[in-house]
Amino acid sequence: MGCVKCRGFDSFDMNHSSYPDDSSRARAALALNQVITQGQTLDAIWQEWPPGRDSTFAREIVYGSLRYLPRLNLLLSVLASERPSPLLECLCISALYQLLYLRVPTHATVHENVAAAKVLGMVRAAPMVNAILRRTIRERDSLIQTLEASEVGRYAYPQWWIDEVKSDWPQEWESLLVAGNTRAPMTLRINLDRITRDTYQSELAAAGFPAQLGSLASTAIRLDRPCATDRLPGFTTGWVSVQDEAAQLAAPFLDPQPGMRVLDACSAPGGKTAHLLEYTRGNIYLDVVDKDPERLERVRSTIKRIGYGTVRLISADATHPEDFFTGECYDRILIDAPCSGSGVVRRHPDIKVTRTRAGVERAQKLQAQLLETIWPLLGISGRLLYVTCSIFERENDQVIGGFMARHPDAVCERFPSNPLTETKFGVACQTGRGDCDGFYFARLRKSG
Ligand SMILES: C[S@@+](CC[C@H](N)C(=O)[O-])C[C@H]1O[C@@H](n2cnc3c(N)ncnc32)[C@H](O)[C@@H]1O
Repeated sequence: MGCVKCRGFDSFDMNHSSYPDDSSRARAALALNQVITQGQTLDAIWQEWPPGRDSTFAREIVYGSLRYLPRLNLLLSVLASERPSPLLECLCISALYQLLYLRVPTHATVHENVAAAKVLGMVRAAPMVNAILRRTIRERDSLIQTLEASEVGRYAYPQWWIDEVKSDWPQEWESLLVAGNTRAPMTLRINLDRITRDTYQSELAAAGFPAQLGSLASTAIRLDRPCATDRLPGFTTGWVSVQDEAAQLAAPFLDPQPGMRVLDACSAPGGKTAHLLEYTRGNIYLDVVDKDPERLERVRSTIKRIGYGTVRLISADATHPEDFFTGECYDRILIDAPCSGSGVVRRHPDIKVTRTRAGVERAQKLQAQLLETIWPLLGISGRLLYVTCSIFERENDQVIGGFMARHPDAVCERFPSNPLTETKFGVACQTGRGDCDGFYFARLRKSG
């Protein structure tokens, strides 16, 4: 699409001699099909993919196709007289993505995707793929005009999502939608117990990884270009972890002090757990709960890597505290609630497919239930931090507002002199702010 209108233009650029072959296109179409028709997450799919250049290109196609899926779907419905089979549809969508968003010559894109149709056993569909792509090349400008006429075509989100953001953020909705379609940076959290941020920045520069200091969190460094974690100085010995900068605000907002009893109620994969330990140099009694035992194993390995030991890991449903609560109240509780993830859509574009408005409403109920059942575990004067990586008010202020109305012993603590956007009960980091993901934080104190 013309560059000006093409929000978040992707820049996978290749020289002519090194195009990945048609099998990477076929692989991308298969992965897209797994997400769209089987509801699999990208994280699960990547785990099964071998490393390598063709995988990188295929991954790029899958990410981009999902990022612009609502728009590309609309385009396909204009181009195809009848809806193709699911796999063929995924091949067409991903081919349209390559054609419109990647800097690969159009003739190669047509040729390789027609070949990919054959690789996928859809020989008879190859002429249709060819016709769709050639028409897109010929009628590009008028097709773009058609797409721009609708909100789904312009912003590339489901209409319910656009409506939600418009109603929650009447001023900022457009910039929030646009930010959600950009590429997220790779941001690191420095363990200040091991090394200073300035020293680590110098270590990174010496290792050939230029990086910038974050402006919101004192622990954050943003790499100019992403790299494999095993190439980061001190990664294996816990100097540094990968974490979005807004997520790095949770530990200082909760502000646990040495010797306190702390509960991390929805902990996996353990980014904030690790930060709580770093923040207190491991000097807290930390109970770490998650419902998903496999994900809890990731918390275990992170804690092992960063090297702090005073943790009780519990695989349990936090809405059933009788399964893990010993009777001794906590001084600090973190509820990093399961949510729509609407604030992290730039990292997980598959959620444009896997989330629905009904799903957001279900998440909202679970969030309220988590607060309700965990609140009695907090001691008098204790503090609870509620966090979501969502920009939907339904999962944020509405949940906290409902809870406050039912609990006169809950006092809402404001966040003085912080750079985020104040909401009725908490603060929000709007997606893209300081190149961060979208987050929400609310802090409750238990009165006596
Ligand atoms: C947003 S993620 C937490 C991210 C984590 N705090 C971090 O910083 O890496 C939400 C987690 O809540 C867990 N979860 C969902 N429902 C739960 C429940 N009823 N009890 C405990 N954990 C639950 C999920 O398995 C998921 O790992």
